[in-house]
Amino acid sequence: MDNNNDVHLIDHPLVQHKLSLMRNKEVSTNSFRRLLNEVSMLMAYEVTRDMPMQEVEIETPMEKTMARVIDGKKLVFVSILRAGTGILDGMLSVVPGARVGHIGLYRDPKTLTAVEYYFKMPQDMQNRDAVVVDPMLATGNSAIAAVERLKELGPKSIKFVCLLTCPEGLRAFHGSHPDVPVYTAAIDRQLNDHGYILPGLGDAGDRIFGTK
Ligand code: URA
Repeated sequence: MDNNNDVHLIDHPLVQHKLSLMRNKEVSTNSFRRLLNEVSMLMAYEVTRDMPMQEVEIETPMEKTMARVIDGKKLVFVSILRAGTGILDGMLSVVPGARVGHIGLYRDPKTLTAVEYYFKMPQDMQNRDAVVVDPMLATGNSAIAAVERLKELGPKSIKFVCLLTCPEGLRAFHGSHPDVPVYTAAIDRQLNDHGYILPGLGDAGDRIFGTK
């Protein structure tokens, strides 16, 4: 893995337009979820650009030929519960053959540190490319803890995908994992004292699931 603090800003107009709609506090839960799904599909396009492929023999109406197809089973999306589910759904709709792992982490509201309550990954992680998904890379604590746990299983590669991040989050994350590239649709101004991103979009989990 590289040690280069890679950040990929996905500034495609469609992604930026949908993200702006999502930031609006008046957007309904239903629309927020649909928009996150659409943005995630578009982000999947960038994230999977160098994804492994394999050649298979097919038969066109004219003749037999070799054709390239995605080696989807080698890819594992790792969703950080619960907000990661929002990105996971969109990504799975464009890479339906991918495997899925889950890491359950919650933020201790006082210390803002990540506490693990669930961890389930597919077999053979050392043969897989992992894409960790969580909409908000804020303090970086959950992302750092999730990637640390994942590295114990030795996947071939790890990428981290979020919708939003901020300079503090990127600094913290790459301070611990300089080898893991981050894919994001925006780098916002800053964190507030409660570990929320400004201007941000609020609590991603609450907005996806309508829990507030
Ligand atoms: N988690 C969220 O859902 N929103 C933030 O702004 C920060 C962390």
